[in-house]
Amino acid sequence: MCGIVGAVAQRNITPILVEGLKRLEYRGYDSCGVALHVDGKLERSRSTARVAELEKQVAEAHLEGFTGIAHTRWATHGAPASHNAHPHFSRGRIALVHNGIIENHDELREELRAAGYEFESQTDTEVIAHLVDHLYTGDLFETVQLATKQLVGAFAIAVFSRDEPHRVVGARRGSPLIVGIGNGENFLASDALALAGTTNQIVYLEEGDVVDLQMQRIWIIDANGKQVEREVKTVQAHTAAVELGPYRHYMQKEIFEQPRAIADTLEGIESITPDIFGDKAYGIFKKIDSVLILACGTSYYSGMTAKYWLEAVAGVRTDVEIASEYRYRDSVPNPNALVVTISQSGETADTLAALRHAQSQGMQHTLTICNAATSAMVRECALAYITRAGVEVGVASTKAFSTQLAALFLLTLTLAQVKGRLSDEKEAAFLKEMRHLPAAITAVLALEPQIIAWAEAFARKENALFLGRGLHYPIALEGALKLKEISYIHAEAYPAGELKHGPLALVTEEMPVVTVAPADSMIDKLKSNMQEVRARGGELYVFADGDSRITTSEGVHVIRMPEHYGLLSPILHVVPLQLLAYHTALARGTDVDKPRNLAKSVTVE
Ligand code: G6P
Repeated sequence: MCGIVGAVAQRNITPILVEGLKRLEYRGYDSCGVALHVDGKLERSRSTARVAELEKQVAEAHLEGFTGIAHTRWATHGAPASHNAHPHFSRGRIALVHNGIIENHDELREELRAAGYEFESQTDTEVIAHLVDHLYTGDLFETVQLATKQLVGAFAIAVFSRDEPHRVVGARRGSPLIVGIGNGENFLASDALALAGTTNQIVYLEEGDVVDLQMQRIWIIDANGKQVEREVKTVQAHTAAVELGPYRHYMQKEIFEQPRAIADTLEGIESITPDIFGDKAYGIFKKIDSVLILACGTSYYSGMTAKYWLEAVAGVRTDVEIASEYRYRDSVPNPNALVVTISQSGETADTLAALRHAQSQGMQHTLTICNAATSAMVRECALAYITRAGVEVGVASTKAFSTQLAALFLLTLTLAQVKGRLSDEKEAAFLKEMRHLPAAITAVLALEPQIIAWAEAFARKENALFLGRGLHYPIALEGALKLKEISYIHAEAYPAGELKHGPLALVTEEMPVVTVAPADSMIDKLKSNMQEVRARGGELYVFADGDSRITTSEGVHVIRMPEHYGLLSPILHVVPLQLLAYHTALARGTDVDKPRNLAKSVTVE
């Protein structure tokens, strides 16, 4: 999704801005741009191609300066076109970039038109640029405070003025923005990753903050208009993590990193104790009588899997809701529920809003399972478990999902223990299985050549159906999501028992049906569902394991997973589905890491 970088320095900052944009590319974007203060004027360059192309343009134009802002745009208002790309200018005096959505842009546009402003783009952002110019008092910091009061919606902005050459002003409400502290130079960005290699001294701005960025100082005013000091945190540079290494795509790299990611996520867990979720965890876990999971996308599917675990193992009633639905629904709040948000980025707008909605309804027992230790989600929840997947660049989530599952299984065991449902023997046995997961996943990854052979057949199809039952129904959903996201094949998943209530009508020889078929208590039921598919000529692609007694025959293709893994089996079964999606997309020649229209971190509604 959109990314922001800004800088005020005593050296040419073009390389820092461009490098920052490159580091934000993984979030997904469709155009990009940079603006600089050059000899008393505003200069800019914009492109609907990649940041590498923008870099060439900037070099050819010798665009250099000490003060500037840059942006990657993911279109919401107005098509992905150069004239809609940020930075937006107003009357040659104000340059501005924006993440988020301004909801009252139509009203403001009318007012500004009446005041004589002409609009070059269809964006909501240009409205803010003109508003800042319209209200400009000669002091940009003061002006941005005035302007943001008139904005309804979500935003992070960075803005500078032709008339104040050594100043960039930032503001946030609903979208993340951070300040990077340098030596006689300061930076702004939507994500600390953008500044990796430039500075690791980071200030996380809070809701409603407006920041004045100058070379020697930063000055922050909070939502109440009071000057505030915010803590400077040292963050780890992620430089190495975003190198591609020997892999062809980040998604492939991230699939193969899963044994390491799971091992890191479980590192230091010698026994089950509530403390791993935070100091206050025991008290909270004792009090709660149910769990409410809120998440989006792939994270929602890990939540669905956790429901099966939490109810079966911990005996705790669990509801799972899509965050964008929950936030607007009249629900019945339960102050004794544990609200669990699951998020790779910790910045997904709908999940954050759902969390705040739950809190506003009196639900204060909050926990997040998150991959970004410094994210808003972690800051706003009482408890947290940080998955250590490392930076995930591929838009289609892989290692973030499997590490979420590992963390959610730990949560299950912990709640089971607190509720008196986990014997020492069971705890030891589960922990042993968890420690073996990295080796078990490595063995599954070795199936890649067989999956490549299947992918060739899938690449020629336009539809696919995924079936699973019980714990593996969410895994079927995740497999279908992976395939549609990156190969653009229409894929849907069903709990296999529902097949006869609709999707069976779609089954012909043209329909590949992927079946997640571990040898669990549902296997015989699942086999009957598979017969229903074969009887209609559907071609089955089955991921079996252990003693499932499913063998390859006409119209039935089987890949056997090395071992059956009991309750943890979803963590293994998702891996071949990730590989199937990856190789199918590769065979179709799509942009695997940056699928069309999608973004990595969805910071707008
Ligand atoms: C986007 C990403 C998905 C992700 C979802 C939720 O749609 O493309 O991969 O699952 O957002 O993101 P989160 O960071 O909250 O897990």
